[in-house]
Amino acid sequence: MAKVGIAADHGGFLLKVAVLELLRSNGHSITDFGAHSLQENDDYPDFVIPLAEAVAKGQVDRGVAICGSGVGASIVANKVPGVRAALIHDPFSAHQGVEDDNMNLVCLGGRVVGYSLAWELIQRFLEARFSGAERHRRRLTKVAALERKDLRNGN
Ligand code: RB5
Repeated sequence: MAKVGIAADHGGFLLKVAVLELLRSNGHSITDFGAHSLQENDDYPDFVIPLAEAVAKGQVDRGVAICGSGVGASIVANKVPGVRAALIHDPFSAHQGVEDDNMNLVCLGGRVVGYSLAWELIQRFLEARFSGAERHRRRLTKVAALERKDLRNGN
């Protein structure tokens, strides 16, 4: 079973509570990066950045980030080098994003998907494995090169 990190703001809080229970009852080891209570004025970066950093450092195998739409969570998670996050609301992309793109953090919209679909997406995401195919590695090498580029200095 995987070491899974999870984070949500107020827009994703109720969905996080529900999927946390499902993840635990399915034997996954969970690190909860908050929010630990429903606070209508909290900010998704405060929870998603620590989660994304834990994914990048290998402290957890995969991450699940939930905000209202999933958009803010995916924007901020992808700012952390080594994180490959995507906003996923369909089961095909939930596994194909791992198989082809080595997605290591999935973002969900707590105001978009219901519990059942969210749980299916998370299961597909956690079960999937990167293909390791040459063409997939080649593309990810190009992504990683962009990540290392210092755009401020024009390099
Ligand atoms: C919070 O109200 C909402 O803006 C946030 O959860 C998220 O949807 C941002 O992308």
